[in-house]
Amino acid sequence: MNRCDSTEAWAALRGHYEGPGGTFDLRQAFAADPGRFASHTLQAPEVFADLSKNLLDATTLRLLLDLADQCGVAERRDAMLRGELVNSTEGRAVLHTALRVPPRAEALNAAVGPAPFQDEVQQVLEAMLTYAEQVRADGHITDIVNIGIGGSDLGPAMVVQALDAYGSPGRRLHFVSNVDGHDLAPLLRQLEAKKTLFIVASKTFTTQETMANAHAARDWFLSQGGTHIERHFAATTTNVPAAAAFGIEHTFGFWDWVGGRYSLWSAIGLPIAIAIGPERFRELLAGAHAMDRHFAQAPPARNLPVLLGLIDVWYRNFHGMASRCVAPYHQGLRRLPAYLQQLEMESNGKRVDRQGHALPYATSPVVWGEPGTNGQHAYFQMLHQGTDVIPVEFIAVKTPAHKLAGQHRMLLANCLAQSQALMVGKTAAQALAEATSAPPGLNPAVLAQARSFPGNRPSTTLVLEALTPASLGALIALYEHRVFTSGVIWGINSFDQWGVELGKALCGQLLPYLDPQHTGPTTGLDASTAGLLQRLKS
Ligand code: F6P
Repeated sequence: MNRCDSTEAWAALRGHYEGPGGTFDLRQAFAADPGRFASHTLQAPEVFADLSKNLLDATTLRLLLDLADQCGVAERRDAMLRGELVNSTEGRAVLHTALRVPPRAEALNAAVGPAPFQDEVQQVLEAMLTYAEQVRADGHITDIVNIGIGGSDLGPAMVVQALDAYGSPGRRLHFVSNVDGHDLAPLLRQLEAKKTLFIVASKTFTTQETMANAHAARDWFLSQGGTHIERHFAATTTNVPAAAAFGIEHTFGFWDWVGGRYSLWSAIGLPIAIAIGPERFRELLAGAHAMDRHFAQAPPARNLPVLLGLIDVWYRNFHGMASRCVAPYHQGLRRLPAYLQQLEMESNGKRVDRQGHALPYATSPVVWGEPGTNGQHAYFQMLHQGTDVIPVEFIAVKTPAHKLAGQHRMLLANCLAQSQALMVGKTAAQALAEATSAPPGLNPAVLAQARSFPGNRPSTTLVLEALTPASLGALIALYEHRVFTSGVIWGINSFDQWGVELGKALCGQLLPYLDPQHTGPTTGLDASTAGLLQRLKS
């Protein structure tokens, strides 16, 4: 398999960028081609995508598709779907797609055969959904607290929030992730032990933050006169013995081939199943599975995750754009940017290729954002007029889950206006014409410059009919496969996360110094760390 920078397509893209590809103008492209919207939009399962406001001409697109071909995106995809050990530095398969295969489904495509591990997957899914149903039926349990971090928190927390309309009144889901006691302590003040179920969610069941919170929750539960730990604590983990040692009887397992940031489809999804019910949980899986089929079967030129991954590479490696803003125009998706930060930056924030060679090109952009319209009144100034060009991804939802129709129209108009403004901009001459009534003493020419917009700033708009379990499942799977695509192009292993280990190890070494009993010297520590330790202890 070729690394991107050794392919002919990469060299051709470089040449194209230095020529017409790099000076492409969206306004001219729309003026020259009335069919641009039609030819650059795509209906994937549950997700409609408008790619037309991206800095792409026909040559760019053709060369990017050549790049996907020359880097073996389809072959790597099929290797992943077959269950090969594509997570090479951990020697593991990567099979989150197997978690959302419905019973008796056909193979995702002819090259991959039936999805592996289906008996185990269906067995745990059934058990987890049955337990979720029991919790939902138990009128004594009003509060469910998921204790987990990273992939054991972000996915379930984001999905439960997004699907709030499918929840039941009288049952509250809480998510505690931070080892900072300011996360758990205020929540405990609101809870009653006998009405609370804690779910300890941890793939490894060793993560410091999660274990500290889980022990604190258990201590609190006992201190409140709580009895029957087995009824008030459950676990979702691959480390079943450790959960048993903690005193937990209801444990739902999963497998090492489910990466933490890809685990909401597994037992880690228990809080989702409790919030929305088993049937809706299956719809979430079905939406993701529909996107898996699209990814596995659609030709690259009509394959939405592939196209988005390629556009990411085009912006990152040729335009030199270092970040991407995600702007969901749905309040329910307010944690989507945080979820995507782990998905994208933990997956593709890598600096060596699969053979261990340092990369001479950039990988993951910074992914960030806030729900519209809040971002508009904060950092959109920079998006419109700042010196950096940052591609923006708008997510619009056609039908809301509320009856405030006027507000929904405003929301959608704002969403459309932002991508339009980024693209069309405003020339200084237009601004000058508007600045004729400038207050006395202000120089109209200076004002016109300050009020002009360069335009030609790229964006993608994704549209969902409604925010449902199925559409959300499809949207998340779309992001997973897009990250996979750019990771293959960059030749990296998107499924390990060694970058988080060093800090964890050093934390273990520093913790004893913060013990009030520790009075010894801080010999061996760098002066900054030693000085800060002193400052925090004294
Ligand atoms: O530290 C990073 C990480 O390993 C993530 O990849 C993972 O989602 C998170 O920690 C939590 O890990 P666990 O589920 O094992 O507690």
